[in-house]
Amino acid sequence: MRILITGGAGFIGSHLSDHLLKEGHEVTIIDDLSTGSILNIRHLKSNPKFHYYIDTITNEPMLAEYIDEADMVFHLAAAVGVNLIIEDPVRTIETNIGCTEKVLKNCAKKKKRLLITSTSEVYGKNTNEEFKEDDDLIFGNTTKSRWSYAASKAIDEFLALAYVKKYNLPTTVVRLFNTVGPRQTGQYGMVIPGMIECGIKNQQIKVFGDGTQSRCFCHVKDVVVALAKLIQSENTIGEVYNIGSQHEISIMSLAEIIKTKLEAKNFPSITIKKIPYSEAYEPGFEDMLHRKPNLEKTKNAIGFNPKRTLDQILDDVIEEKMAALS
Ligand SMILES: NC(=O)c1ccc[n+]([C@@H]2O[C@H](COP(=O)([O-])OP(=O)(O)OC[C@H]3O[C@@H](n4cnc5c(N)ncnc54)[C@H](O)[C@@H]3O)[C@@H](O)[C@H]2O)c1
Repeated sequence: MRILITGGAGFIGSHLSDHLLKEGHEVTIIDDLSTGSILNIRHLKSNPKFHYYIDTITNEPMLAEYIDEADMVFHLAAAVGVNLIIEDPVRTIETNIGCTEKVLKNCAKKKKRLLITSTSEVYGKNTNEEFKEDDDLIFGNTTKSRWSYAASKAIDEFLALAYVKKYNLPTTVVRLFNTVGPRQTGQYGMVIPGMIECGIKNQQIKVFGDGTQSRCFCHVKDVVVALAKLIQSENTIGEVYNIGSQHEISIMSLAEIIKTKLEAKNFPSITIKKIPYSEAYEPGFEDMLHRKPNLEKTKNAIGFNPKRTLDQILDDVIEEKMAALS
């Protein structure tokens, strides 16, 4: 198969490229390197089945051409990361909605198989213990810019499902929960690489809020296998799926585990510092206390069962960040 990945030089897109090439596919990526990096795909450049274009998908004639040449399209390009979203909500909304609209329109012209990546953020302030795909989405006020990411991704979902109905476009929507692994940067507010980078460079791990909020972290290598299976199944067309881990951990416990692991690697005196949300992000910042996926639907569709533990995730990321030092 010839597969196109938008945002393919990003964290998840580059791992997805690795996986699809291993499966024997021909992979083309488009990325404007706004948050992605050429370093993420450096190891693939000499692979004759890998093609990369450094361009923006707002360049629609170019996008149309690459969609035309592909059998399947993964749409991952987006403005991602809490820091980026709060600093530049205009960019978040314009990128997330504008790019998705262009991808859908051009896939619809040629009836291409498409998968778009949404986010667990769309569940917003829902307080259910586990989030199911048909749960209500509950957002905060439009005066709080952090909700612009969730709202823009929800519009992407509405638009994608509307294209399925109106144009019979074979599309699947995936809501990714916290995905972690090598090549993810802490620069835009991602918690695990952020804590590890700060621990290594400044001997300090920052915990935003009181640290009782919990998250579930899934290894990117488990996630990309699931993305590939979902697009390869006809039964997932017109459906929404959660992908993530169900192993919940508080952010304070996570910081303590990272501290212990770094201290064992000769970073002897690491401190953990709590920073109020208002200082870390913006006054009135709202966070969700927990965010855990219900995975019944995804298990039934593709037998999804993430294999890698939090321990493996942390070891992989620490190893990568330490290698970058030398
Ligand atoms: N990492 C997570 O935990 C997580 C969680 C939920 C959802 N997601 C979703 O998964 C997808 C991939 O996220 P990621 O974590 O790999 O982030 P990332 O920032 O590493 O990847 C996004 C990529 O899109 C590229 N991009 C942005 N605008 C572009 C444009 N106009 N043209 C071309 N390329 C453009 C960026 O340069 C980057 O390489 C995103 O859609 C994101 O919303 C990620």
